[in-house]
Amino acid sequence: MPQWVYISDVGKYEGQEVTLKGWLYNKRSSGKLHFLQIRDGSGTIQSVVFKGDVSPEVFQLADHLPQESSLTVTGTVRADARSPIGFEVSVKHLEVNQIAHDYPITPKEHGVAFLLDHRHLWLRSARQHAILRVRSEVIKACRDYFDNNGFTLLDAPIFTPAACEGTTTLFPVDYFDNTVYLTQSGQLYMEAGAMAFGKVYCFGPTFRAEKSKTRRHLTEFWMIEPEVAYCDLNGDMDLAEDFIEYVVQRVITTRQKELASLERDLAKLANVKKPFPRISYGDAIELLQKKGVEIQWGADFGGDEETLISESFDRPVIIHRYPTENKAFYMKADPENPRVALCMDVLGPEGYGEIIGGGQREDDLAMLEKKVRDHGLPEQAFSWYLDLRRYGSVPHAGFGMGIERMVSWVCGLHHVREAIPFPRMLERVTP
Ligand code: 4AD
Ligand code: MG
Repeated sequence: MPQWVYISDVGKYEGQEVTLKGWLYNKRSSGKLHFLQIRDGSGTIQSVVFKGDVSPEVFQLADHLPQESSLTVTGTVRADARSPIGFEVSVKHLEVNQIAHDYPITPKEHGVAFLLDHRHLWLRSARQHAILRVRSEVIKACRDYFDNNGFTLLDAPIFTPAACEGTTTLFPVDYFDNTVYLTQSGQLYMEAGAMAFGKVYCFGPTFRAEKSKTRRHLTEFWMIEPEVAYCDLNGDMDLAEDFIEYVVQRVITTRQKELASLERDLAKLANVKKPFPRISYGDAIELLQKKGVEIQWGADFGGDEETLISESFDRPVIIHRYPTENKAFYMKADPENPRVALCMDVLGPEGYGEIIGGGQREDDLAMLEKKVRDHGLPEQAFSWYLDLRRYGSVPHAGFGMGIERMVSWVCGLHHVREAIPFPRMLERVTP
């Protein structure tokens, strides 16, 4: 059998005979010709079965092959200017590995619920393939950014004894005779890491029992979280904008083909260059009021407010110094105005909302002890965390970026559910 090659590599074999192993994506016939669209994960190629080139059995087989049957094809690679990948294959022989009867996802339109029920098969569709290839590259770009800038990867635990982001969104798990929780964020562990390694990051799944059904919320999402010792809020904002610029610019270069197939407007992403505008929460409130929104200082921003704010800018905008009252216990109050915290959110443009949340951490032992008590958190579970303020406390800061929010924005998706292979939401934990 001629050499087995991946479709992404066929260009190196022009004029030669090769073997392809894959699945039948689509098919059309006209008299003496069958045009088989074959996909193998690395790409899709048109394979032409000409009656005069193959045995009558093979020609007959090609005529009756249903969508998603698995097959092995041998043939000659030919340049073809009409092909999206520049090549097609003239088939000499074809073997079927398995015939797929009645594949549920046909080229016609299906509803989202049906597609999500068949997510294990939906992954094979061109659009999902493109999105998840972008996701894979986003993750690699994030990792490369931190790896190349002196950060150490430090994995945070998934079972945790206490809340990081508020007690209302915890998932409890039976842990022998105790109850523990699925992690909401690796941050507290990264703070320990920053005191040991200076600059660290973690990347893993995080869990929130979010009761809200929105286009931006999953109950299980992946977060990348850097944490830096001797870093203040300004340094944190510098890091966030440098990081986002790097990831976006890299992905629009390396995943141009996929983004084009998603019809993403690349000009909008090309614009994601630092510096990003930085405005305080107070300024954001004024901006909203000028736009006619009835909102008062102290209120939280929902998705609509975030979209309205971001519409005033042509790139991500950083909002800093939100009111301390609604924020997590670990945030450091601004010494110049304790009503606000030294925190920040990065809002994506085009209505994508909060991509990053983070800020400077409370580094004073007494203040932090008080915060733990004021938030009604179990002091016992936080005693290790307080040790970080007992033994060599320093100013430090970090942030978390939700991978699915980033992928949704880069791909221009309507809903985060398409940005993760198997989404978990309020009403969906299958397949
Ligand atoms: O703003 P959040 O809650 O911040 C933290 O968890 C901090 N402890 C992170 C840190 O400072 N190390 O979440 C951070 C990001 C959000 O900006 C968003 O991108 C994403 O995580 N995120 C979600 N993504 C999908 N579904 C959800 N339910 C999400 N909740 C947060
Ligand atoms: Mg947040």
